[in-house]
Amino acid sequence: MRPSDYIHLTLCMVEFFQGTGTLWSSEAAPDAAPRAVEGQSVGPCDGRADRTMKTQYYTATSLDGFIATEDDSLDWLFPLGDPNSSGYPEFIADVGALAMGSTTYEWILRNAAKDSPEAGPVWPYTQPAWVFSSRELPAVEGANIRFVNGDVRPVHAEMQAAAGSKNIWIVGGGDLAGQFYDAGLLDELIIQIGSATLGKGKPLFPRRLLHPVLRLVSVRQIGAGMVELRYVII
Ligand SMILES: NC(=O)c1ccc[n+]([C@@H]2O[C@H](COP(=O)([O-])OP(=O)(O)OC[C@H]3O[C@@H](n4cnc5c(N)ncnc54)[C@H](OP(=O)(O)O)[C@@H]3O)[C@@H](O)[C@H]2O)c1
Repeated sequence: MRPSDYIHLTLCMVEFFQGTGTLWSSEAAPDAAPRAVEGQSVGPCDGRADRTMKTQYYTATSLDGFIATEDDSLDWLFPLGDPNSSGYPEFIADVGALAMGSTTYEWILRNAAKDSPEAGPVWPYTQPAWVFSSRELPAVEGANIRFVNGDVRPVHAEMQAAAGSKNIWIVGGGDLAGQFYDAGLLDELIIQIGSATLGKGKPLFPRRLLHPVLRLVSVRQIGAGMVELRYVII
């Protein structure tokens, strides 16, 4: 066992005994991915044990599988939970590069400009970002953004080089995450499921993944409004 594993394991045990409701569930070596135990919550310590870079689709969805309404509203999402009481702060600290589709980018621009319309949008990420579009989109001054089009594989290689040992975040939408999956480049799904249904909207992940493609490695309750599930793609 490496010294860093001892530190990691200790942190996990402290977290568990402090009553955060998370539990290290791997019985053997900490290098092995923890098992999900029915009826118990596990993680978030699982991901932190593995220092190799991952490509992760991290998103929130309604209970019926939509990440936004048909007209791209997220207003239904915000009352469900505070991102800071989820795994988001730990997650984003390990992100070295991110990618999104044009609808998500345009949503961010619209909403980032709401607070101070006269100053223009404030880009929320410090990591380099890749935005997929077949159109010419407005840039954000001072933001580290590249506009790309087409095959995700060369873009992923660029992102890997920029991210170094950190992870790649596929912000969304669902089909873009699916394109990375189709290319064999997606390692994990981290999905926060809200206690709300939308009936229709933008799909979480419009692909068919049948057992045993997804292995559940952690379950984390976020208040009464959300649960975070973490899956490894095998
Ligand atoms: N619930 C959450 O946590 C969460 C997270 C992320 C996003 N969202 C929301 O979910 C919605 C997602 O929208 P969406 O499903 O339309 O997905 P999107 O990925 O944000 O945008 C899709 C668009 O991106 C462009 N695109 C995708 N792949 C491309 C490729 N390989 N090459 C070139 N262009 C490509 C295409 O548009 P063009 O070519 O026409 O530009 C495509 O129509 C947004 O409203 C967003 O705000 C929610």
